[in-house]
Amino acid sequence: MPSSLIPPLAGKAALVTGGSRGIGAAIVRRLAQDGAAVAFTYSASSERAAALVAEIETEGGKARAIRADSADVDAVKAAVAEAAKAFSRIDILVNNAGILIRNLVDDYDPADFDRMFAVNVRAPFIAIQAALPHMRAGGRIITTGSVTADRSGFPGASVYSMTKGAVASMTRGLTRDLGPRGITVNAVQPGPTATDMNSSEEGRALTRPLMAIGRVGEDHEVASLVAYLAGPESSFITGSALTIDGGYLA
Ligand SMILES: NC(=O)c1ccc[n+]([C@@H]2O[C@H](COP(=O)([O-])OP(=O)(O)OC[C@H]3O[C@@H](n4cnc5c(N)ncnc54)[C@H](OP(=O)(O)O)[C@@H]3O)[C@@H](O)[C@H]2O)c1
Repeated sequence: MPSSLIPPLAGKAALVTGGSRGIGAAIVRRLAQDGAAVAFTYSASSERAAALVAEIETEGGKARAIRADSADVDAVKAAVAEAAKAFSRIDILVNNAGILIRNLVDDYDPADFDRMFAVNVRAPFIAIQAALPHMRAGGRIITTGSVTADRSGFPGASVYSMTKGAVASMTRGLTRDLGPRGITVNAVQPGPTATDMNSSEEGRALTRPLMAIGRVGEDHEVASLVAYLAGPESSFITGSALTIDGGYLA
């Protein structure tokens, strides 16, 4: 095949956490279309996960679904080990699984606070730790943050915003650890994007006037940015939290 026709991620192995639905499923699809073998985790949506694997395999790609609750440290480690065993290594790790538990500060349950940090912050860190022994120079680590790291637009999102701020600062910190090993570490920070997490018409009506382009984002638009960061063209980008928000922060 002429080199210009070889998909950019041909021969690469990827693990995407939270890949059964929404932005994660779009990332899984896109990395597979770009030629990577893709393992992904999910916590509950077994049928959707199986359907996504079947869809990718029907199109000639390689995919594997792994049930692993990101709140469970051992499950995260086991998922990384399973992906590394299946594909012999991990070239691309996308920490995408995330949850949003909203509440005003007065009533915020400390158990919800801990769960938010376990899934949105601890799990990416543990997955990175577990993936590093399987990752060589040229490796790519990408974590899904949020524009809420930079702007809390609405009440009830203080803890979610904290977790996404932590993703951005973790990304910068890890860049210093892993740059010398030739591994890039970046975050993507989506603005309001049409997924189950952001599905209420009331919520979309509130955000629409704040979007410079007059609409919320689509999952595949975020996946395009992740694919770029996962690919060979992004070799000089590390330590960045790249915003993709239709002008929400502008
Ligand atoms: N949508 C937005 O407007 C928006 C904006 C900024 C940032 N983000 C971020 O983008 C990422 C994806 O969000 P989304 O909108 O695509 O959310 P979503 O539609 O709710 O999908 C979440 C995905 O994460 C998985 N997941 C949730 N909890 C998990 C857990 N404990 N363990 C393992 N997997 C788990 C879900 O798996 P199951 O199907 O099994 O539940 C699903 O695949 C999140 O990090 C979110 O914070 C979203």
